[in-house]
Amino acid sequence: MTVKIFDTPEVQDFLQAVSGFDQDGGSERAKQILHRLVGDLFKLIDDFDVTPEEFWSAVSVLNALGQGTQFGLLAPGLGFDHYLDMRMDAADAEAGRTGGTPRTIEGPLYVAGAPEIQGSGRMDDGTDTDGEAMWLTGQVRDTDGNPIAGAKVEVWHADSKGGYSFFDPSQSEYNLRRSIITDADGRYAVRSIIPSGYGCPPDSPTQQVLDLLGRHGQRPAHIHYFISAPGHQHLTTQINLAGDPYTFDDFAFATRDELVVAGQRIEDAAAIEASGFEGPFTQVVFDVELSATDTPELQVRHKRPRAKEDERDRASQLAGTATV
Ligand code: DHB
Ligand code: FE
Repeated sequence: MTVKIFDTPEVQDFLQAVSGFDQDGGSERAKQILHRLVGDLFKLIDDFDVTPEEFWSAVSVLNALGQGTQFGLLAPGLGFDHYLDMRMDAADAEAGRTGGTPRTIEGPLYVAGAPEIQGSGRMDDGTDTDGEAMWLTGQVRDTDGNPIAGAKVEVWHADSKGGYSFFDPSQSEYNLRRSIITDADGRYAVRSIIPSGYGCPPDSPTQQVLDLLGRHGQRPAHIHYFISAPGHQHLTTQINLAGDPYTFDDFAFATRDELVVAGQRIEDAAAIEASGFEGPFTQVVFDVELSATDTPELQVRHKRPRAKEDERDRASQLAGTATV
């Protein structure tokens, strides 16, 4: 088929009606965005001669993604999270907000309300004996190098099988999730386990889409952070552990050179004893610099649906009924 009808007045008028341009109600912004979105898809159907079979199979994939609340999983794989980061980086540069540790994506697996720790403590529940013990520590500073006491460092990561508590119901509540308040010297330190890399569920609609692109759905071992302090820009970031086969081949495009951290294995008996571990462990050090800002909106994380934020329960979150 070679029909091309997109540019005809009939289709253009139709698109205006579809987008509610002839109606008083609704949102002007929604109308403009839907007009562009639907128009671009109409044009795509013309340009690629998309068949009815292809169109309805795409609808099935979207239904499966929605039913599994997987849009948040697929979005990083299709680069949307990283693209939003690139836009926020560009906005920071344009406004002269330079310096500080780089941001990178939040991902879909944060859970609000993790237990708070003052200075140092433990994040794992001790049941994951396959995981290498980890000592995760660092200092939060401003861009002049001054330590920031009382900063909030929220950390979350996967277990030795790549699963996140809450989304993996076999783990205890808030396992491997903590909110640490930095000490007088701006330091945080937690005992945990080295996370494994993460893979999209193999039979998921997310992986089905990646398969069509000939792409894997793997992330390197990584540790997520939210870092905030009054008078400073909120930072969403993560570290990728060096040496993972996917460190520089992350399906979610979250790796940044400045955020690749090499763990150091500690095997010396005296050092093991002094740090309270039972055997060898891996030390991971991540220092963070926050840039200063007076703007209140920049001091907090942006809104998005997040598990247990605003008292939402697991069922409503997983059913995708959470509101932004
Ligand atoms: C996904 C999972 C993660 O753990 C992460 O950090 C980012 C993305 C995902 O499934 O899309
Ligand atoms: Fe993650």
